[in-house]
Order: sequence, then structure tokens, then C-alpha cells
Amino acid sequence: MATAVSTVAGEDGHRMQDLSQMIPGPILLLGAPGVGKGTQAKELVKLWGIPQISTGDLLRANVKNGTELGKMANEIMQKGQLVPDTLVNEMVALRLTDPDVKRGFILDGFPRTLVQADWLDERLAKKSGAPAGIQPDSLANTPAGSLPVVAVSIQVDYTQLLRRITGRRNCPVCQTIYNIYLQPPKVDGICDVEGAALVQRSDDTEKCFEGRMLTYQSLTAPVVEHYRALSRFAEVNGDQSVADVAAGIVSSVERLRG
Ligand code: AP5
Repeated sequence: MATAVSTVAGEDGHRMQDLSQMIPGPILLLGAPGVGKGTQAKELVKLWGIPQISTGDLLRANVKNGTELGKMANEIMQKGQLVPDTLVNEMVALRLTDPDVKRGFILDGFPRTLVQADWLDERLAKKSGAPAGIQPDSLANTPAGSLPVVAVSIQVDYTQLLRRITGRRNCPVCQTIYNIYLQPPKVDGICDVEGAALVQRSDDTEKCFEGRMLTYQSLTAPVVEHYRALSRFAEVNGDQSVADVAAGIVSSVERLRG
């Protein structure tokens, strides 16, 4: 069981947490392209001090660094398809050996297929061994390691998702996420924090978005149903302010961990 979480009202009226007492454990953020998984993961990192593990970000880092995985993944990502399960699972397994996961972690964009979900469930239940050459994950023998995964699915309708995807811009230095329609920077095209020129992801076109949505419906929507059936699951309306969505996720995790 997670340590009890006490809640207090923050200055902005949203519920804030006495975070020092919280062991968040493993948390999955599920949802279609553009629902706000990355935006919300960054909010939860600030609240709970546990890492965001985004398979999309890890793959883009491989693309940028020109690794063999990156060369192969790039073409697949541009088509809105999924990188093979084995490769993504190995990438996540390696990340889970980092010591920063000991109080928990936020998986953003993983699992995305039932094969990935089964792998993760087994891995976290310690039923499967680590792949050859990879150590057991760093949750082993920690309080967070005994907590079951909780999954939160964020919901936003198709028209809004398209606007979010085509309007998204990122800071290449601090990774802050903006949206030219919905969350613009103070100065057009420039990061508020770093002053760097914002960039657009190459898969954030309307055409690629359509492919990503088809992939989501056929391969990832069943993952949502998988976790719904396991009961440690909540749905949050993503068509609200970032703070309100975050408050919904926090209260869902608190309830599921209670
Ligand atoms: P990935 O990077 O995971 O992309 P995705 O799942 O399509 O999700 P996004 O990152 O596009 O959206 P998001 O939900 O994080 O939204 P965000 O917070 O940025 O994956 C990319 C590719 O990598 C995949 O297509 C696949 O090829 C491959 N891949 C990744 N994981 C894989 C896996 N497990 N297996 C196999 N292949 C894998 O927000 C979007 C926009 O909305 C932003 O502009 C933001 O400012 C705005 N916004 C967010 N919240 C709000 C709000 N409340 N109000 C107003 N605007 C908001």
C-alpha cells in the first residue's frame, strides 16, 4: 500500500499534496496522440519528484544520436506506426535499471500494445527475468516495487487532438511543450524559459496524425481496456486546463493507491 497522502488547498484553489509522504509507485499515462501525456507527465514530475519515462522521447533521442535503433525507428515513426515490441521493451528495461525509479515512475506512451502490456505486467510482478546483459530493475526491494501499476487514461476528442498535434512546438533545450493555438509562448517561436527557437516534431503533420490515430485505435485502445479490466484504472477528461487535468490525475492516483 502507498503511504497515506494528505491533501491541502493550493494558492490557485487546486488540490495540492503533502508530497513528502507519497510513494507514487509505477504510473501509466495512456491516451491517443496529443491528449497531453507528456504535458501531464511533466506536471507529475514536479509534484512527485519521480521520473517521466517517455518511449517517444527515448526513441527521438536515438534518432538524434544516429544509433542503429534510431535509424530503424525514424522511418517507422514518420509513418505513424509502432517500433517493434522487443526493441521498445528492451529500451524500457534498461531505463528501469536507473536508480531514480526507486519511488516510482511515470510511463508516458508505454505500453502501446498488448504484448508490451503483458511484458510490463510480468516484469513488474518480477515473474520475468531481465533481458540478457541487463540488470534487474531498480524497483527491486523498494517500497515502490511492491506497489501495483496504476493506469490513467486521458480523453480528448479527435478535432481537439488534431489542433493540439499540428499546433505543438517544443523547446529543444528544456523540452517545454507549447501550442501555437492553445498554449503559446510569450514571444512567437521562442521558449519562455531558455530563449531558444522552438521546433516542430516531424510527425506532427495532419497526414501523420491520421496514421498515428489509426495505429492507436487498432493496437493501443485494447491496452486501455486491458488496464480497465485490472481495476486499478481511471479516466480523466483531458479537455480542461493543464492544472485541472493534473488535479484529476493526482486525485485518481490517490484514490487508486488508497
Ligand atoms: P510519442 O512521442 O509517444 O507520441 P504520441 O503518443 O503520439 O503522443 P504525443 O507525444 O504526440 O502527445 P502527448 O499525449 O504527449 O501530448 P502533449 O503533452 O505533447 O510517440 C511518437 C512515436 O514513437 C509513435 O508514433 C511511435 O512510432 C513511436 N513510439 C513511441 N512509443 C512507442 C511504443 N511504446 N511502442 C512502439 N512505438 C512507440 O500535448 C500535445 C499538445 O497539446 C501540446 O502542444 C500541448 O501544449 C497541448 N496541450 C496539452 N495539454 C493541454 C491542455 N490541457 N489544454 C490545452 N493544450 C494542451
